[in-house]
Amino acid sequence: MYILGIETSCDDTSISIVQDGKKIISLFSVSQYKAHESFQGVVPEIASREHLKVIYKTTEETLIKSNLTFEQIDAIAVTTQPGLIGSLIIGLNFAKGLAYNFNKPLIPVNHLIAHVYSNFFNNNIEFPFISLLISGGHTALFVFYSFDQYKIIGKTIDDSCGEAFDKISKYFNLGYPGGPIIDNLSKNGNYLAYRFPLALADIKKYGLNFSFSGLKTSVIHFRDKYKVEPSESQKEKIEDILASFQYSVAKTLLLKTKNAISKTGIKRIVVAGGSAANSEIRRTFEELKNNGIEVFFPPLNLCSDNGAMVAGLAYNYYLQNKNINYNYLSLDAKSRMVEMKRNNLIT
Ligand code: KG4
Ligand code: ZN
Repeated sequence: MYILGIETSCDDTSISIVQDGKKIISLFSVSQYKAHESFQGVVPEIASREHLKVIYKTTEETLIKSNLTFEQIDAIAVTTQPGLIGSLIIGLNFAKGLAYNFNKPLIPVNHLIAHVYSNFFNNNIEFPFISLLISGGHTALFVFYSFDQYKIIGKTIDDSCGEAFDKISKYFNLGYPGGPIIDNLSKNGNYLAYRFPLALADIKKYGLNFSFSGLKTSVIHFRDKYKVEPSESQKEKIEDILASFQYSVAKTLLLKTKNAISKTGIKRIVVAGGSAANSEIRRTFEELKNNGIEVFFPPLNLCSDNGAMVAGLAYNYYLQNKNINYNYLSLDAKSRMVEMKRNNLIT
C-alpha cells in the first residue's frame, strides 16, 4: 500500500511516498531557510507563501521519482496540527484538492506523533514507550500506549529545546537554524569549560517539566559580561561556550528522562524532533543503554520535518481503520494543542 505524505507545518515543504509504513519510495523536501535567514527565525507569512510556491512542483517530483502514477497511490496523509496555521492550511488544502481529484481517502496526522513515528522506519518498537520530543516548536515527555493513546508527563514551560539553540545562535550572530550550527561549532569546544545551569533540576518541585529560557539568558549574560564578540580571536571561547551550553541541555534532557523512567517503570525511550539530530544529546543518552534501557533515535535525515513520517504514521492509522476521512472537505487545521500550553507545570 502506498501513502503520499504532505508536511508543511513550519518551514519545510516535504512530500514523500511510503510503502506499507516502512519503505520510503521517494522523499523531496524544500527548505525555506534562505527566505528566513536574514530574520534569523521563521516569519509565518513568508513561510505560507514559500509553501504555496513549491508544493505543486515538489509533489510532482516526488511522484516522478517514485515511478508510480497517482492512481496507484492508496491514500493521502497530511499534517493538520500543531504548527503555523497559514502553513498548515496550504498543505491541508492542497491535500484536499488531491484527495478530491483522485478520489482517495485523506488521513490527518498530528505533527508531534509523526515525529515519534520517524523512529519506526528502521525499528519495530514495542508499546508502551516514553518519548522525548525535542523540536523547534515543542519539548515534552510522553508515554505512548499506542499511536493514538498517549499521556504528556512533562513539557517546557517556556522555550523549546530547538528554540534555545536558535536563539543563542541568533545572539551570537551565527545564523539560522541554530541547532546544526551550534552542534558543529561545539565539536571544537570544551564542554566542561563553563558550567551553565540545569534548569528545573529539582524533580520534587518541578516534576518532569523543562525550562530553557533561563539557560539561554545565562549564556547571553555570560557573553555580555565577558564581552565575547564573534571574532577570530574569540573563536575558541565561543566554541567552549556553545559546547558547554549544549552539554547543559543534554544533561537536563537526560536527567528528566531518567526520572520519567523511574516514575513510569518504562524502560524504552524514543527520542524525536529536530534536536534529536544533536550529537551531544545522542552521546549523552548512550549512558542509558548501559543500564538495560532501550534507546531509539531517528535516522539523521528524518529528525527534522519530513513527509515520510506523516505517510508512515498514516499507514498505521489506516491499518487500524482510524482517522481515515472520506468527508475531508470539513477537515480543519489547528495551530496548537491545548495540552502543550506553556504556562503551567504538569504535576
Ligand atoms: O522538528 P523540527 O524540524 O521542526 C519543528 O517541528 O519545530 O525542529 C527544528 C528545530 C530547530 O530549532 C533546529 O535548530 C533544531 O531543530 N535542530 C537541532 C539540530 N538540528 C536541528 N538542534 C540541536 N542540534 C541539532 N543538530
Ligand atoms: Zn517538526
